[in-house]
Amino acid sequence: MSRLDQMSGELIARLDSAPDLQALEADRIALLGKQGEITRLLKTLGAMTPEQRNVEGPQMHALRERVSSAIASRKAALEDEDLQRRLAAETLDLSLPVAPGPQGSVHPVSQVMDELAEIFGDLGFSVATGPEIEDDWHNFTALNIPESHPARAMHDTFYFDRTDGSGRRMLLRTHTSPVQIRTMQTQKPPFYIIAPGRTYRSDSDATHTPMFHQVEGLVIDRGITLGHLKWTLETFLKAYFERDDIVLRLRPSYFPFTEPSAEVDIGYTMVNGRRVLGGSEGWMELLGSGMVHPSVLENCGLDPDEWQGFAFGCGIDRLAMLKYGMDDLRAFFDGDLRWLRHYGFSALDVPTLSGGVGA
Ligand code: DAH
Repeated sequence: MSRLDQMSGELIARLDSAPDLQALEADRIALLGKQGEITRLLKTLGAMTPEQRNVEGPQMHALRERVSSAIASRKAALEDEDLQRRLAAETLDLSLPVAPGPQGSVHPVSQVMDELAEIFGDLGFSVATGPEIEDDWHNFTALNIPESHPARAMHDTFYFDRTDGSGRRMLLRTHTSPVQIRTMQTQKPPFYIIAPGRTYRSDSDATHTPMFHQVEGLVIDRGITLGHLKWTLETFLKAYFERDDIVLRLRPSYFPFTEPSAEVDIGYTMVNGRRVLGGSEGWMELLGSGMVHPSVLENCGLDPDEWQGFAFGCGIDRLAMLKYGMDDLRAFFDGDLRWLRHYGFSALDVPTLSGGVGA
């Protein structure tokens, strides 16, 4: 075997096993580049005798051809491997939408519920829930609203045909107050809870919808006074409206389940003809509250001489309207995408006391 044949065999084997495109390119330059091994070999033809050149010339050109085509085929093979690897790794889901930005938004009611949980969570409260389909005892009787009580008629209750064990018709809860009863019956005091949720009354106009939202608050501990109630509501509303100048006014009122009872008004100031919360130029009714009635504690098996507490109930939709400026409650439940886009919140905007409970 001639020297060139041997060289050719070695070179082809090396090129065929070049590990990647970079190594192959380095080999190409080292062999066929201006200073390359084969280029230099070809240059020696000029110094040869014509006879020598006739023998060596074709062999050298053949070597260059073989090396060139070995490089070309290895290059094609490596490029193909590369493509297969990328096709396997870079998958493309053709069923994805063209511009998959965030599409939905958090409804203001959900946003306010999250804000309430954040604020009251920080005060040591936990969130309690109860069923929306209630029985008469939890919704009325246990809350000191007996059958003949006028408050029952005031609630415009939705009743079911189905009755409970005592023959009374089941109903859609008219307020979140039955969650107070369920909590006190099933857990051990002290209690520090809020209970946000859906409530129902047969009522409909710009500020009333048959389904609406309330948040109930309940604190039961030893030595709880009206002072604790006022401080808690003030602290809550200052954090919620993100203003330190919130002023509250407790007006004597009546609820069967509290004694004494107070309606809580929040003060506002007129700024350019608009009511702005804060100050005390005027008053807006905001929520109902009071000290839990001893009969309610007894109905839940608690001794009123040992345990006292306060409760409050507040419309969540109204809280949202006052903070975020909507003026028609019915739009809350229309499911109109334009309204939801305008008043909705980003799902990533989680309310925190440190970062701001609003948006
Ligand atoms: N349950 C009352 C309502 O729906 C609101 C309320 C008033 C709740 C006073 C309370 C309270 O816990 O103490 O109108």
